[in-house]
Amino acid sequence: MTSRTNGLRHHDVPALDEEEIMSTLLSFHSAQPTLEQGEACAETARQTALEKELEQARRELAAMRMQLSSVEADVTAIRKERDWALRALTDLRSETFLDLARSAERHDGESPMHTTRIGLYTGLIAAELGCPSGLCRMLEKASQLHDIGKIGIHASIIGKPGPLTTEEWRVVREHPRIGASIIGESEEPMLQLAAEIAMTHHEHFNGGGYPQGLAGERIPLAGRIVGLADFFDALTTERSYRPARPVAEVIEMIRERRGEQFDPVVVDAFMRATERIERVLQLTARQEATALANATGWDGDWWMVT
Ligand SMILES: [Fe+2]
Ligand SMILES: [Fe+2]
Repeated sequence: MTSRTNGLRHHDVPALDEEEIMSTLLSFHSAQPTLEQGEACAETARQTALEKELEQARRELAAMRMQLSSVEADVTAIRKERDWALRALTDLRSETFLDLARSAERHDGESPMHTTRIGLYTGLIAAELGCPSGLCRMLEKASQLHDIGKIGIHASIIGKPGPLTTEEWRVVREHPRIGASIIGESEEPMLQLAAEIAMTHHEHFNGGGYPQGLAGERIPLAGRIVGLADFFDALTTERSYRPARPVAEVIEMIRERRGEQFDPVVVDAFMRATERIERVLQLTARQEATALANATGWDGDWWMVT
């Protein structure tokens, strides 16, 4: 079939109705992305890129965390090594001072066991006074340096077999100050405590002691304890110039000096601990006798009581 419209011939083309054309055009037009749809698309792309970046950052963070924990482990190991080295150094320093203190006792003609015993007695009295165990251990060690200042007194005076002149006594009475100056420079707590003991172990509760004439609680507790322990050990052990006194007699002397030379509270603690103190004395006396009978005499580490 042939038809003619506006001068053009159309062969067998079915006629489209106008409504249909409009609907086709509209549907074509609506298939094109709108401005909002374009922006949404771009937003989705940005979100995807951001998520990728975020994922990458998470992976990097996890890697950094692993590195950090490895660095922390290294720091902990270094700290442990440092603490170990510091402890070793502190122990070495304490041992050196203890050796010096034992030398000072030998210089005075005393057995090195004197320092060991003072440490043990001090620890027992402090425990009886209710001091915490850490402080008792510190006192046990620090008290052994109480006479370290004797190292600074000339052998002709400190080792003199006979009675001392007034001037010689004045010199001997300097040993607390000398001792405190030898160890007092250290900032190590044990040596600080030792310096305090060295300075005050000859002070009397009633103010009649030396070198400062301190009285009552102005004398540090450590000095009050060691003063009593030193008195007990000096009198219950033999010296080159006198025999040892019986323990019961010395205990009685301490009781008589309660509130005078000695702090009543410390005397009471000592009295409660006398059984254990006597056991220490017997045990160490046996060790001393064995060492003396031995060819090595005072040498070696026989004075250690474990
Ligand atoms: Fe002393
Ligand atoms: Fe002493």
